[in-house]
Amino acid sequence: MPAESKDAFIARLMAQMTLDEKIGQLRLISIGPDMTHEQINKEIAAGRIGGTFNSVTRGENRPMQDAAVKHSRLGIPMFFAYDVVHGHRTVFPISLAQASSWDMQAIALAARTSAIEASADSLDMTFAPMVDISRDPRWGRTSEGFGEDPYLVSEIAKVTVRALQGSSPAAPDSLMASVKHFALYGAVEGGRDYNIVDMSPMRMYQDYLPPYRAAIDAGAGGVMVALNTVNGIPASANTWLMQDLLRKDWGFKGVAVSDHGAIEELTRHGVAKDGREAARLAIKAGIDMSMADTLYLKELPGLVKSGDVPMGDIDNAVREVLGAKYDMGLFDDPYRRIGAAKDDPPDVNAESRLHRAAARDVARRSQVLLENRDGTLPLKKGGTIALVGPLADSRVDMMGSWSAAGVPEQSVTLLEGLRDALGDRGKVVYARGANVTDDQAIVDYLNFLNWDKPEVEQDPRPAGDMIAEAVEAARRADVVVAAVGESRGMSHESSSRTSLFIPGSQRELLKALKTTGKPLVIVLMNGRPLDLNWERANADALLETWYAGTEAGHAIADVLFGDYNPSGKLPISFPRSVGQIPTYYNHLRLGRPFTPGKPGNYTSQYFEEKTDPLYPFGYGLSYTSFSVSGITLSAPSMPRGGRIQASVTVKNTGPRDGETVVQLYIRDVAASVVRPVKELKGFRKVALKAGESRVIRFDVDEAMLKFFNAKLEYAAEPGDFDVQIGLDSEAVKSARFELL
Ligand code: NOJ
Repeated sequence: MPAESKDAFIARLMAQMTLDEKIGQLRLISIGPDMTHEQINKEIAAGRIGGTFNSVTRGENRPMQDAAVKHSRLGIPMFFAYDVVHGHRTVFPISLAQASSWDMQAIALAARTSAIEASADSLDMTFAPMVDISRDPRWGRTSEGFGEDPYLVSEIAKVTVRALQGSSPAAPDSLMASVKHFALYGAVEGGRDYNIVDMSPMRMYQDYLPPYRAAIDAGAGGVMVALNTVNGIPASANTWLMQDLLRKDWGFKGVAVSDHGAIEELTRHGVAKDGREAARLAIKAGIDMSMADTLYLKELPGLVKSGDVPMGDIDNAVREVLGAKYDMGLFDDPYRRIGAAKDDPPDVNAESRLHRAAARDVARRSQVLLENRDGTLPLKKGGTIALVGPLADSRVDMMGSWSAAGVPEQSVTLLEGLRDALGDRGKVVYARGANVTDDQAIVDYLNFLNWDKPEVEQDPRPAGDMIAEAVEAARRADVVVAAVGESRGMSHESSSRTSLFIPGSQRELLKALKTTGKPLVIVLMNGRPLDLNWERANADALLETWYAGTEAGHAIADVLFGDYNPSGKLPISFPRSVGQIPTYYNHLRLGRPFTPGKPGNYTSQYFEEKTDPLYPFGYGLSYTSFSVSGITLSAPSMPRGGRIQASVTVKNTGPRDGETVVQLYIRDVAASVVRPVKELKGFRKVALKAGESRVIRFDVDEAMLKFFNAKLEYAAEPGDFDVQIGLDSEAVKSARFELL
């Protein structure tokens, strides 16, 4: 007899379910202080919870699975989810940092390792990847995404989903991926978290939707719905978004979960007059599971009885939830990730459970060298280094926000990293020098954010004393390394900023250090592009390390001492000021563009400062140098459905082996709608020995020339195109061909 199909299995199960049991499956509950474990287990046994999140050990999750499987009427298993965004026990660099590596193998390694660790802790699903395009660094969640570019973020989305889900989401060492936040969350107005999103359809299709689509096409089993509105309708009540686009156009067949409390928020958005209406709108739109639910449980039974919600809507949602559980392998074996109690790790945080080598490797690939005057870096292993700054010895900050089950005590600070690297060959003198900020209101705000305990610790000494101590250390040293930036809470959910400066307390420290005349190496730890005009002008070397995770200290030391030659490139433009925002490289063409070096009135510019970014998309230095030849095209024209090759010779012209990222951009010379000045369409990370050169050949095909036209049809139009190849988005060579 053939095995029962998934659909038949679910249909048979659903035929046995009461309305209340069905509604129970739609509830996703956070394990926290709201309900005791006893209450939760009772609710589960009564068939009133479908899944939970925020419990991260087998010991916690086993009793809940027992309650579901052994004590509920139908024995439907639970699933356990968590925000495994950039690591689990081992914390990898934040997503924005990983994107800076442009290294798909490294990114896959981070996601696969995270899945292995999290599934070993009984987790089945992660609320990741977060693929919201962000062009506004004021938004604190910029740190959680992969930057500003639709193509790069889409490539990362695919790689991440495949790595998280492994051979199948059913595999015992896989997590189901729930891509978020659908949709357009990164475009909140003014960069203020939870604000509205209002966007033209062309921009939406062209720039913001592709990464979600890429994740879904790569097989993501889940989608988390955004908290924001999409052109006037909250995503959580948006039938066009959730049904027409996601399910009908894109063919998504997985489970859609709301974000935390989003259904209740429909009343605050003002599209529902009360909770009952909010629940009705959400289920009608196709929100299968209600996260941190109160309303589905309370309102759906009445709504079904009154006929305001057809039973078919409930059934559709239940089918998706059970389908996801089926796909996660939970009907085969509800304990496949929980295992047997006798096999539980005696210490979940045991050192042996960490993947430090992988974390260190990904972390060093994720750093971006922004400045390096007169070969300041790499540092010599010898002499005296003054290490200063509030982030130099801060275990918690380097883990970045959403650091999952990572334990700060296990992360390596820069102080430890430098000392480990130097051994007895040199000396590190450490002085904190400043607090992250002296603004008590900001400290209070950061400590109020949802951490387990207040984590911004203020040194009570007067600022002047701390600076004096740091200056004294600098005077005694050969070189100063200053670890400055943002505490991790500053680049987090609900952490929007109006300024992009390094806080004043740290700027004062940097200024004082500068007066010593010692070489000044600024090591940045932050989760968004910052306004670095002062730092750029005054530092001898500037290294963007983002929040580099558990092995941050070792990885940064690897780069500072040249044991690893930096190869990261910015996945997001750094503006010169807040006033320049939005600054992104792939903006639409203009009738009056500003041409650098050709000042003139009545062109699109700011008259007080330059119009281009401080650091462009794709930019990053190395300890060696590279050259790129002119482009050779295999043919002057491309037939429909055909392809041509664009080749360049890339040479390592410097003294050291190194890696760089060769980037390919396309510019549509004329089209039926205004097109971007250029768009990334390909890239290759290339390792070259000192003096080595290599021909890098890109295939250019018609698919790379397509765009959404005014009717939202995805097509390429005949005519001329420029292929641009270079090592950042500005320094490119160009060649023209025609699409016939
Ligand atoms: C709210 C956040 O917006 C979302 O990204 C996260 O996955 C959920 N909380 C669950 O923690």
